[in-house]
Amino acid sequence: MADLLERLRSPAYLPTTEEVQAVCKSYSSVEESYGDGKTYLYNSVTTDDFSILFPEWNAYEILTKEFIASFAGYIASQIAKRDMKEPCTILELGAGTGRLAHFLKRELEERVPDRFSYHATDNGSEEIPDQFGMVEPLDYVEALEKHKPHIVLVSWMPYEIDWSKAIRRTPTVDEYILIGEAGGCVGHEWATWGYETRLPSSRKRRRAPWLRDCFVLKTLREVSNLQINHRAESRGRVVDRIRSRTFSFRRMRKNGAG
Ligand SMILES: C[S@@+](CC[C@H](N)C(=O)[O-])C[C@H]1O[C@@H](n2cnc3c(N)ncnc32)[C@H](O)[C@@H]1O
Repeated sequence: MADLLERLRSPAYLPTTEEVQAVCKSYSSVEESYGDGKTYLYNSVTTDDFSILFPEWNAYEILTKEFIASFAGYIASQIAKRDMKEPCTILELGAGTGRLAHFLKRELEERVPDRFSYHATDNGSEEIPDQFGMVEPLDYVEALEKHKPHIVLVSWMPYEIDWSKAIRRTPTVDEYILIGEAGGCVGHEWATWGYETRLPSSRKRRRAPWLRDCFVLKTLREVSNLQINHRAESRGRVVDRIRSRTFSFRRMRKNGAG
């Protein structure tokens, strides 16, 4: 077990879900319904187990082989649908350690070789170490201007800050995918997600900014079902849950293509 834990702590090692379960005794998986009327798996470990896995750096997601395979499968399917001759430009903003970029790019190279380029960027403001030497130091606005992406990925957009408006205003962008807690501790409640939980219903606006900008939101259920969240417990009782999921926002084109 000590060997397995040591392996899991290495940034270059991508564990299976089963290996995470073996190390985190608090792992639990339950089905729950969500705002869209569908049921989702809520997989979680306690905050203590989460920090046992990552004592050296502040991870936001527990990446697993299954999650990366499913996420890459979705992105590869989007790339395969494109009838453009040029490779699809994928841009990750706020990439932090570059771990997601490293594993996702590797998996995409297997699935859709030569059909994409992947740029991981971060302005370094949180001083998260670049673990694979692949994160380009760029502010999100500069990154969008420089790379002119077709697909944008953001895992855990900073709290109460919105990058989605700038992403939508980038004309090359067909789709952006956000990983994190919708309306919770990721991005801006209204500007990113269109939620207004703090306003009385009489003062609520109608159309979320992404909808006004002609984007369609879809929760990627299969990918989300593989995420492992953390829950806080006190004296054996759950006192808080993070609900991170994976959300796609796709531009509706005038010809009807979503
Ligand atoms: C909450 S962390 C998420 C890191 C990583 N995506 C993950 O999921 O582990 C937010 C990241 O955004 C970066 N960041 C903050 N402001 C930024 C900006 N204006 N432009 C680009 N990156 C920024 C921080 O340096 C940090 O790495």
